[in-house]
Amino acid sequence: MKSQKKVLFIIFTVLTMMILAACGQSTSTSETLNVGTDAAFAPFEYMDKGEMVGFDVDLLAAVMKEAGYDYELNNIGWDPLFASIQGKELDLAISGITINEERKQTYDFSVPYFQSTHMIVFKEGAGITNANDLVGKKVGVQNGTTGQSAAEKIMGVNSPTNMKYENTAVAFMALANGDVEAVVTDNVVASEYVKNNPDAKVEAIEDHTNFESEFYGLMFPKGSELKPKFDEALKTVIENGTYAELYKKWFGKEVNVEELLKAE
Ligand code: ARG
Repeated sequence: MKSQKKVLFIIFTVLTMMILAACGQSTSTSETLNVGTDAAFAPFEYMDKGEMVGFDVDLLAAVMKEAGYDYELNNIGWDPLFASIQGKELDLAISGITINEERKQTYDFSVPYFQSTHMIVFKEGAGITNANDLVGKKVGVQNGTTGQSAAEKIMGVNSPTNMKYENTAVAFMALANGDVEAVVTDNVVASEYVKNNPDAKVEAIEDHTNFESEFYGLMFPKGSELKPKFDEALKTVIENGTYAELYKKWFGKEVNVEELLKAE
C-alpha cells in the first residue's frame, strides 16, 4: 500500500515536471524568423556544393546576431519572395532587392545596405556600346527585377524581344546558348559572371546615362515591427566594421561606408 502511494507520487511528480518543462519551453524559446531568398544571384546569394553562400547570406548572419534573433534562410525563388512577404509567410527577405517607390507601396524596406546599377552582358565582339544598342536585339532579364524595367525603359514595355527568365542564372545560360544577345542585370552580378565564365566569352558594360543608381534593402511585410530593429542592427554592423570585412571578403575591395550611411 505504502509503495503504491510512492509510485503514484513519483508518477505525479514526473508528470508535473514534464508539464512545467513544456510550459517553460514555450515561453523561453525565442521566435525563429523565417527569411526568404532567391539563391541564383552570385555573389550575393547562390548555391555552392549544396550550401547557400554569398555576401547577403553573411550579412544576414551578422545582422541577426546583432538583433538577437534565430532564423532560417529558405531558398524559395524570386517571384514567390514577394508573394510570401505580402502574405506574411516570411518575416523578411534578403536577395539583392532594390528599394524603389513602386515596391514601397506594398512592402517595407530597411535602410540601404548596398549601392548598385545595371550592366549589359553580351558576347565578346557583339558591338554593343551602350543601352540604346539593345533596341531590336533579344535581351534576357530576370522576370520582375529592376533589370527588366531598365531594359523596358530602352526597348519599350512588352517588347517582344525582351525575354524574361525565372532567375538570373537561367538568363545567363540563355546568353551562353545564343538564345539571347544580351543580359541586363545588376552590375556586381554581371561582373562576377564575366569573371567566373571565361569560356562563355562575354563582356559587360555600364551605361550611366541610361541606367540609374539603386540601393538594396531587407524587405518586410508592410507595417512589420521588425523593421526598426533591423535598421538599428544593420547600422551597427555597418558602423562597427563587420560590413567592411564582409565587403572585402566578397568583393575584394575596401568600402566607404560613409556614403552608404548618408544614402538613407
Ligand atoms: N536588384 C534587382 C531587383 O531588386 C535584382 C535582384 C535579383 N535578386 C535575386 N536574388 N535574384 O529587382
